[in-house]
Amino acid sequence: MDIASRPAEPDENTQIADAAPPPQAPPVIHREDYLPPAWLVPEITLDFRLGIDETRVTSKLAVRRNPAGNGAVTLRLNGDQITPISLKVDGEHVNDWRLDGPDLLLDLPGAQHLVEVETAVNPAGNSQLMGLYASNGMLCTQCEAEGFRRITFFPDRPDVLSIYRVRMSGDKARFPILLANGNCTAQGENGDGTHWAEWHDPWPKPSYLFALVAGDLVANHATFTTMSGRKVDLNIWVRPGDEGRTRHAMDSLIASMKWDEQAFGREYDLDLFNVVAVADFNMGAMENKGLNVFNTRYVLADPETATDADYDAVEGVIGHEYFHNWSGNRVTCRDWFQLSLKEGFTVLRDQLFSADMGSAAVKRIEDVRVLRSAQFPEDSGPLAHPIRPDSYQEISNFYTATVYNKGAEVIRMMRTMAGPERFREGTDLYFARHDGEAATCEDFVRAIEDGTGLDLGRFRLWYSQAGTPQLSIRLEHGGTRAVLTATQTVPGTPGQPDKQPVPVPLRLALFDRDTGTHSGERLIVLDKASDTFVFDGFAKPPVLSINRGFSAPVAIEFERPAQDLVFLAAHDDDPFARYEAMQNLVVQHLVAAVGGGLSEAERGAGRAAIGAAFAAVLADPALDDLMRGELMILPAESYLAEQLLVADPGAIHAEREALKAWLGRECAAALAALHDRAVGVAYGRDAAARGARKIKTQALNYIAAGDAGEGARRAIAQYHAADNMTDRQGALMVLASLDVPERAEALADFHQRYQGNALVIDKWFSLQAGAFHPHVLEHVRALAGHGDFTMSNPNRARALYMAAAMNPVAFHDAGGEGYRLIGDLIRRLDPINPQTAARFVPSLGRWRRIEPARAVLMRAELERIAAEPALSRDVLEQVTKSLG
Ligand code: TRP
Ligand code: ZN
Repeated sequence: MDIASRPAEPDENTQIADAAPPPQAPPVIHREDYLPPAWLVPEITLDFRLGIDETRVTSKLAVRRNPAGNGAVTLRLNGDQITPISLKVDGEHVNDWRLDGPDLLLDLPGAQHLVEVETAVNPAGNSQLMGLYASNGMLCTQCEAEGFRRITFFPDRPDVLSIYRVRMSGDKARFPILLANGNCTAQGENGDGTHWAEWHDPWPKPSYLFALVAGDLVANHATFTTMSGRKVDLNIWVRPGDEGRTRHAMDSLIASMKWDEQAFGREYDLDLFNVVAVADFNMGAMENKGLNVFNTRYVLADPETATDADYDAVEGVIGHEYFHNWSGNRVTCRDWFQLSLKEGFTVLRDQLFSADMGSAAVKRIEDVRVLRSAQFPEDSGPLAHPIRPDSYQEISNFYTATVYNKGAEVIRMMRTMAGPERFREGTDLYFARHDGEAATCEDFVRAIEDGTGLDLGRFRLWYSQAGTPQLSIRLEHGGTRAVLTATQTVPGTPGQPDKQPVPVPLRLALFDRDTGTHSGERLIVLDKASDTFVFDGFAKPPVLSINRGFSAPVAIEFERPAQDLVFLAAHDDDPFARYEAMQNLVVQHLVAAVGGGLSEAERGAGRAAIGAAFAAVLADPALDDLMRGELMILPAESYLAEQLLVADPGAIHAEREALKAWLGRECAAALAALHDRAVGVAYGRDAAARGARKIKTQALNYIAAGDAGEGARRAIAQYHAADNMTDRQGALMVLASLDVPERAEALADFHQRYQGNALVIDKWFSLQAGAFHPHVLEHVRALAGHGDFTMSNPNRARALYMAAAMNPVAFHDAGGEGYRLIGDLIRRLDPINPQTAARFVPSLGRWRRIEPARAVLMRAELERIAAEPALSRDVLEQVTKSLG
């Protein structure tokens, strides 16, 4: 046996594999196996000699035996597709190192040493976009979660914190701008066409927060003065030509910095904050210390090319990454099982920020819509996991709606129970107590307990149990007393068959039917399997408004007459509850219709109730248009499918479309008037103008459903008259679903008008792949062969294929063509970019909840993927779990 392949002794990094794994199965990492690192790296010096095809990296690690470790002599340095070119210990070349799989092991006799490793990487050949890679001639890094080990050998785990000094040199013409974390301490010319820069980050950080960028970039520069008077230089770096589209990102950054001081008392801690926009990026953005790297789509925005939703996304993501400076960087995660410690908390912080910047009511509704359409299906499917998972094979697969969005909801519940002021005392204590540390979710909960005085004993179950709690509500009335009975069950999930009841905070109000008012909101906490709550002083049965503001991320079953929902849709003073009443009215009706259980009379009565509530929404002068636009949105097909044990996607689509068309005809005059009014409002970034644009396309959508000719006429007019992307994209979206001649004309115009603008061409792809057009699958196949399509840019690949995977008409094609499309995509994308490929698997993984004919086809597609010889860990984990 060659020395390089000799298996290593178990050490703090050797995780225990499950017994008798199938041959291809990657090892399972368990949360309970955590051990502190045997060695620490208080300081690291990195030297990069930059090149697109080859970059040489020399890394000097000052290593010190961890007094809290197991005393092992072996230092484990993680690697991934790199080999050591040379290795020195304390200045001397050594040969007695060995490899354990991709990792480098070295026995060190003393308590501290200097380890020097040289590696070489090929950025241009890095299509996974993890580690150091090339994008449009620029070099950049992505190290979270385990990308640093693709650059150099290192204990690549978040509980090893180091002070970084970085030097880089490279061709000045190719890489005029050289950036890394922290502050630039020196720079100069080498006299041979190359130049160099040195950077120093004074804050100890884990390797996943390391970043380097080199390329031809221009900055939008501004300054911000912090609450203690520190002047910070802010730069948003983009490719030359894009600087005119950075203003909103800069405004959002400045607003984020101010907001974090006011809302959480958090001040920025360096003299420089850089943001770089990169066109090839696996996710939204990355919070590297002092050097955030962003997907271009969350930086670039102007009215011509970005929709109102794009503007909101830029603001939200800029805020999110900035807020990580405290929730993630100053206090980081001990291990990746604690991911929600930084992500759940930071999502809550960005949600609260966006709520304060715009309409809090609309923001809450949007956040709940995301949770229900993305997270609820995760919780009820084969990939269900708690917000703090117990095991994983590939950590990239756990950057999920559960960890992020449910994680945020769990912390929001603590805030609801404590109240905002006491919650702030909890977070202050958390930051003070754990600053500079790698902490756990348990540390966070304990700090909130100590700071707020809450007892979160049972509440911790929200961290350990997967599954969406199902509540059943009953309200009985007798005399002057109303009695609310609430029961809960948490459904079994893979590996967790038996669950315990969790504390569920419910904000509620009891309305007087005659006056349309209530006597104040109350908060109850259901912390048992079943409980009753008594309310006195009601001469008549009140109307219950419950889970106001979506105070708990639960599903509620509450049978009640449609007229109560119509009442709440018209009168509830909690905007979320009002939206919810409207949604419930539609859900109740469509679920019954899909089940085939509606007589013609019942169908008529159901539609009439919805029609009346809908008409009231269109006409209510007290509603602002942003909120009106929200109330007009029908529940998504994926959410409707969630309501059914086994869903027939064809029937759901047909019923939902039929209702939309009926509303379009029934309310034709009011919708036309609304559209006309909205068309008359000039472009502006204010709430009134944004609201007008929102209802404009909403109205158009219903008009087109009711009358394709009239819809096409108005859509093409809106398309050509548009002086902004919101209106133009909205009109084109409506046209894309219609089988009319104007469709092709408008699509061709759009492509021609925006060619060369990658983010807008992405819209052109998604719009067509997301359309409810009878030939959508043909369109998608044709688009895959279009000259602008490429699999190697994740934004473009997602624009086409994620839109198709999320489009029930395309994906759930009865012949299985949609499943085949996504299956083929996964198999072709996996060798290029496994992280992105794996994100498509959950759509096929839903097969158990789909009617049997389609379920067989979905499963067969998963099996075809599983049969592929060299699958990535990413895809293999998701496919194996989905086949279960
Ligand atoms: N931490 C990042 C965020 O939430 C997201 C992230 C994790 C990421 N892994 C990534 C981004 C890989 C890009 C690539 O803000
Ligand atoms: Zn994040």
